[in-house]
Amino acid sequence: MDGTQEVNILAIESSCDETAAAVIVNGRDVRSNIISSQIDIHTLYGGVVPEIASRKHIERINQVIAQALYTAGMTLADIDAIAVTYGPGLVGALLVGVAQAKAIAFAKQLPLIGVNHIEGHINANYIENRDLEPPFMCLVVSGGHTHLVNVADYGVYEVIGRTRDDAAGEAFDKVARAIGLGYPGGPKIEKAARLGNADAVAFPRAKVGGNAYDFSFSGLKSAVLNYLNGCKMKGITINREDVAASFQKAVVDVLVGNAMHAVEQYQAQKLAIAGGVASNACLRASIEAACKEHGIRFYHPSPILCTDNAAMIGTAAYYAYLAGRRDGWNLNAVPNLKLGDETRMKT
Ligand code: KG4
Ligand code: ZN
Repeated sequence: MDGTQEVNILAIESSCDETAAAVIVNGRDVRSNIISSQIDIHTLYGGVVPEIASRKHIERINQVIAQALYTAGMTLADIDAIAVTYGPGLVGALLVGVAQAKAIAFAKQLPLIGVNHIEGHINANYIENRDLEPPFMCLVVSGGHTHLVNVADYGVYEVIGRTRDDAAGEAFDKVARAIGLGYPGGPKIEKAARLGNADAVAFPRAKVGGNAYDFSFSGLKSAVLNYLNGCKMKGITINREDVAASFQKAVVDVLVGNAMHAVEQYQAQKLAIAGGVASNACLRASIEAACKEHGIRFYHPSPILCTDNAAMIGTAAYYAYLAGRRDGWNLNAVPNLKLGDETRMKT
């Protein structure tokens, strides 16, 4: 590439409960970012129902892709490559996007690039932060994953810490359900916490033996459930806002503590956050303050680019495209794909 050529990527994301498509030019220029959320229907069941997610993806994917192309002012004739999330996620949901991407790429004889969903979340940081380049440390906090990742280069990831049990977003969702806030828990806990006292209940900040960067949230979740049961048995009415605020602060303290420890040990100059929980204002404010204290730069995507979207998949695919990475027609959904499995050496 001579640097003047534009690379237009059509990206598709269907790993969980959002059907999404986006057109990305040269990795960081979002021409369209269409997200069709299924939250309304899953809310009725208190969480994502995999079979319903797959069916809804099938119903909506054609229209979402057409809308992404239309909004970008393009047709498939303008597209240079098709990108798609192929894992991790719900297998039936992933398969819809993968089959669709393969069909379009095959029909139009375009390169096909499979993207790791977590890599997508990390790459969301490049979109609005034009100056951000590797290396940097990234805290990935979503509904299914909690990782501390050393981003050594484009497409090169070293996972240095991970959760031993529940993901941060999962803990938000479970605690929200326990205090009667419903699904999805993260935004509801954040809203309730604004009216509560974060020091009202002393919930534990778990330290994990073995790896200083690992996380554990199941003990915190149990502590909240025990507290709720205790109140019930003693006939004490719980203050939902106080529980939400105290729980949120406990999660944030652990996330910030481990992230800053990693920054110090790796002497990172930049810290980024990614994933659905990264849209949490309390977490953002705490990390921002800690970064200021350490004299390092803090990066984060806008809330809409923190939760699931296809723009981030297009960005990750662009750097894979530049590195010469292409997938074959045998690309398949990999529900438990690990970050790093798809890392290719730069050409
Ligand atoms: O990244 P994401 O959209 O999907 C996954 O890849 O998992 O993350 C969804 C998770 C859910 O657990 C949701 O409760 C949480 O992110 N979340 C939040 C907030 N917004 C979404 N957690 C805390 N505060 C928020 N504002
Ligand atoms: Zn996600």
